[in-house]
Amino acid sequence: MDKTNIDSKPRFSSTAKLMHWGFVLLFIYALLKQIDELNQLEDTALLRFEVIFAGVFVLLLLIRFIYMKTTQKSSLPDSTPKSQILAAKVVHAGMYICLALIPLTGLLIGLLFWLDLKDGFLIDIAVGAHEFAVSVIYWLIGLHILAAVYHRLKKDGVWSSMVPFLKEFDNEK
Ligand code: HEM
Ligand code: HEM
Repeated sequence: MDKTNIDSKPRFSSTAKLMHWGFVLLFIYALLKQIDELNQLEDTALLRFEVIFAGVFVLLLLIRFIYMKTTQKSSLPDSTPKSQILAAKVVHAGMYICLALIPLTGLLIGLLFWLDLKDGFLIDIAVGAHEFAVSVIYWLIGLHILAAVYHRLKKDGVWSSMVPFLKEFDNEK
């Protein structure tokens, strides 16, 4: 593909890249420190930390979502088939929904625990929804990475618009 063509495509700003990759790190951290058993929340300090972490996570996600929707647009080339544009939109929206649902259901678990509703129907549903959102996002992230690799192989500029390594052209920064 013609390089001038790619250079003229809109690119993600440094802030957009910082938010995208910052969230990848934040999400990996959240997975590493995940709770394995409900009764770990008996530790009040851990419960407080989880609730603060989830609150900050949702707030940052909201800022990212508003910034991305108001200032940035996808790097998919204009020639991309409509079905692929739709697939990308569904996967991106799905990841945002899961990124919101995971901490929000986590906060609900925290609230029920704090209200002493530590077992029963309500907390089972909250934990089930929390785990379901985690499973769904794993699949979506898998599809997202596959799609990114597909665009890297196509060399259409989508990969390099967001990913800081293995750029398509040697002279790209
Ligand atoms: C936790 C893992 C990840 C999540 C939740 C995620 C989420 C997203 C979202 C929501 C977008 C749309 C733009 C935005 O609103 O920020 C996006 C764009 C993008 N991501 Fe990721 N991403 C992840 C990891 C990765 C990885 C590992 C790669 C590459 C190896 C990658 C490559 C890209 C590319 C190339 C775009 C631009 C797509 C376009 O222009 O339409 N992402 N990502
Ligand atoms: C950004 C915030 C959070 C992330 C990314 C996250 C992530 C996870 C993950 C990956 C799992 C394992 C799911 C599975 O094995 O299928 C999990 C389970 C769980 N999380 Fe969270 N979590 C978050 C917030 C919270 C909060 C705020 C609470 C409660 C205060 C919480 C309570 C739990 C509980 C009770 C489980 C289930 C443990 C079990 O299997 O019995 N999480 N979380």
